[in-house]
Amino acid sequence: MNLGTVGTSWITGSFIEAAKLSGKLNLTSVYSRSEEKAKELAHTYQAAHYYTDLDEMAKSPEVQAVYIASPNSVHLEQALTFLRNKKHVICEKPIFSTTAELELAYQTAKENEVYLFEAIRNIHTPNFDILKRNLQMAGTLRSAMLPYIQYSSRYDLFLKGEMPNIFSSTFSGGALVDLGVYPLYLAVGLFGEPWKVTYHPVILSSGVDGSGTLVLEYQDFVCTILCSKISHSVMPCEIHGEKGTFVLLDAAPISEIKFIDSHTKESEILSVVQEEKDMVYECSHIAEIIECKDDQQYEELKSLSLIVLRITEEARRQNNIVFEVEM
Ligand SMILES: NC(=O)c1ccc[n+]([C@@H]2O[C@H](COP(=O)([O-])OP(=O)(O)OC[C@H]3O[C@@H](n4cnc5c(N)ncnc54)[C@H](OP(=O)(O)O)[C@@H]3O)[C@@H](O)[C@H]2O)c1
Repeated sequence: MNLGTVGTSWITGSFIEAAKLSGKLNLTSVYSRSEEKAKELAHTYQAAHYYTDLDEMAKSPEVQAVYIASPNSVHLEQALTFLRNKKHVICEKPIFSTTAELELAYQTAKENEVYLFEAIRNIHTPNFDILKRNLQMAGTLRSAMLPYIQYSSRYDLFLKGEMPNIFSSTFSGGALVDLGVYPLYLAVGLFGEPWKVTYHPVILSSGVDGSGTLVLEYQDFVCTILCSKISHSVMPCEIHGEKGTFVLLDAAPISEIKFIDSHTKESEILSVVQEEKDMVYECSHIAEIIECKDDQQYEELKSLSLIVLRITEEARRQNNIVFEVEM
């Protein structure tokens, strides 16, 4: 399937390399607002075409699917442009700012008989499958602590008085939607939709959250998600059941899964060694869904994206974190 890309930061390069590794997506076209950057990216990754006009790329017969990696608030308009031109869209997390935007985009995808996906690297991986298949080993779940705490170099710029997109309400930024979505996807993918959500953020002067604690309440247990772009942690993720505990080295990618028996305290490693270019799994999975028109898996991914966005929207609502697109 022929691929186009939007955005020229490092994540676009990572996706292109993973797409190539998957053997299922063939880069033909790149878009940048700047001709120089478009030309350079096309040259680096041997794309035959480069564009500075998004509509022109969206109309190209050389593009069947597009990967969008622009600032969050720009995703919707760009995604709609491609969907209306009957191109499949793979849009970086967080897919959009609101569930209303997501529903509009899914409807547009349906009307144009194409698919829309949120690019989220952890739930398509072999280790996520292993965790999901073995979750019952822990017995009745009682608690989970899923941190994603990573000091951002862009916070240094923020402290110097600049406004990086990811700390800006204009670009729908903040720690929960940027980093918290990884553990949140794990939680929703493993445990389903919680019955209650509470968010306790640390709000920056820009009006978005620099860090926060998201509490998800389920029938018999509580899952706590810690996310931050303004501090650093090496704390692993843990899922605690009456029979045992899972320890995950990271929320994304899930590099190692250890299971510890509650009674014997014996531990075993359940994970496999994954590809270093771990976005290959999402590339392969998404390309297969498109190729096979696998509506069942598509609906499952849609449902996950909707629940995740509903939760982050509710978390923001509770704390009056308002994005400019909502004003
Ligand atoms: N999956 C992952 O692991 C991962 C990692 C990092 C980021 N992300 C996601 O990828 C997306 C991009 O993140 P990022 O940190 O790379 O963002 P960014 O650096 O702010 O922007 C990415 C690209 O978007 C274009 N752009 C910048 N400002 C724009 C504007 N005002 N209007 C239109 N286009 C603009 C730029 O490309 P041109 O100048 O060439 O047009 C830029 O290279 C976000 O949604 C983020 O959450 C995902």
